[in-house]
Amino acid sequence: MDVSGLEITGGVPLRGEICIQGSKNAALPILAACILGEGICEIENCPRIDDVADTLAIMQRLGCRIRRSGDTVRVDASGVDRFETGGEETARIRSSVLFLGALLGRMRKAVLPLPGGCAIGARPIDQHIAALRQLGARFFLEEKVTADAGALKGGRVRLAMPSVGATENAILAAVTAPGETLISPAAREPEIDELCAFLNGRGAQIMRTEEGGIRIVGVRRLGGTRYRVGPDRIVAGTYLLAAAATRGQIEIPEFPHQELGALLALLRRMGVTVVCGERALCLSADRPIRAVPYLETAPYPGFPTDLQSPLMAVLCRARGESCICETIFESRFRTVPQLQKMGAKIQTDSRCAVIKGIPALTSASLTSPDLRGGAALVIAALQANGSSVIQNTRYIARGYEDICRDLGRLGAKIRWIEEE
Ligand code: UD1
Repeated sequence: MDVSGLEITGGVPLRGEICIQGSKNAALPILAACILGEGICEIENCPRIDDVADTLAIMQRLGCRIRRSGDTVRVDASGVDRFETGGEETARIRSSVLFLGALLGRMRKAVLPLPGGCAIGARPIDQHIAALRQLGARFFLEEKVTADAGALKGGRVRLAMPSVGATENAILAAVTAPGETLISPAAREPEIDELCAFLNGRGAQIMRTEEGGIRIVGVRRLGGTRYRVGPDRIVAGTYLLAAAATRGQIEIPEFPHQELGALLALLRRMGVTVVCGERALCLSADRPIRAVPYLETAPYPGFPTDLQSPLMAVLCRARGESCICETIFESRFRTVPQLQKMGAKIQTDSRCAVIKGIPALTSASLTSPDLRGGAALVIAALQANGSSVIQNTRYIARGYEDICRDLGRLGAKIRWIEEE
């Protein structure tokens, strides 16, 4: 998507059926995992988002041959002959840090600039480094991160916290390391299980332990496979929240609703009707939205930090006072000043936001602060009286294939415009 803004005229209840794009947070580690071994991997339902485009560019620089046809990406990693990722893509996306584990697994050496990503917090990589050290990697940290693992071998990986990225990096490095690895605590996010299912399809031996850890028996080589990425639970959650905010009624066919358990339970507490049928997940919001007295974001299966800003946009018009505490990322209230421009009554301290519901939001000229914050502004604008313009939508394109197309199909008055 070229640099463009969004114009949204609020007040239309969203209605209809919407299919959800492939999951960003599953596709990114799976693509990094394609460079392990030489077989050809075909990734179906790979979302067309900027983070995927950047990841594919990094893979090409490393020597992969990549072909996209429709929603399938075919990766031939037999030509990978480099161990250094450079270029602007590596600096732009946070998930480029996954090439640390993937390159160690493939080349036994990795050189990366420090990773980028959304400005939602300090986002250190100490847990990634600690995990890989426990598998025998040596690190030299200066302007770049250099990792060397002549003697990579399986072992006990203890993480100080169940970091999603650190768990993925440990899996990527351990899967072809000789011996057995146990990662705990390991992140429980469904995207981790997608990565494991993809690698097991290539011949890896990875399983969840009863306690939720991850056990890996190293294998010598990995073959090719064909894998279909599951639907994106954060995109689905965004659209459910948008429908609730506009008092709409939508259906999402064939969605694994358990992955959104925390959101669906919360929506019900807010007075929204949610039915998890065999064929579809259905939401209908015909009553006023009730405030949420207290909510904390938490690792899976808790309420996802990625839906915190979109939820806040809904609570701006809820009946009563809500309080949200952000426990994962320290800078995830950057949407607040934008919502305040629309008349929202929000007070924040470093980790908690108190939102006093008001009857109506007014349209405004807005700027996306980050990926999910941008989606939150879209939700706010869908509820506002009048037309709002959102600039800086390049953030939104990092995670949503085409938010304008999707919401337009549900009846929203939304269109791309040239950015000023
Ligand atoms: C992933 C997701 C992101 C989601 C997040 C939390 C991808 C591509 N991104 O990000 O959408 O918001 O999980 O569900 O999957 N931390 C450290 N040291 C580390 C690593 C992390 O202190 O070495 C901290 C982070 O700063 C953050 C917390 O741990 O405060 C959680 O981070 P983590 O689970 O690693 O998230 P990501 O993998 O970056």
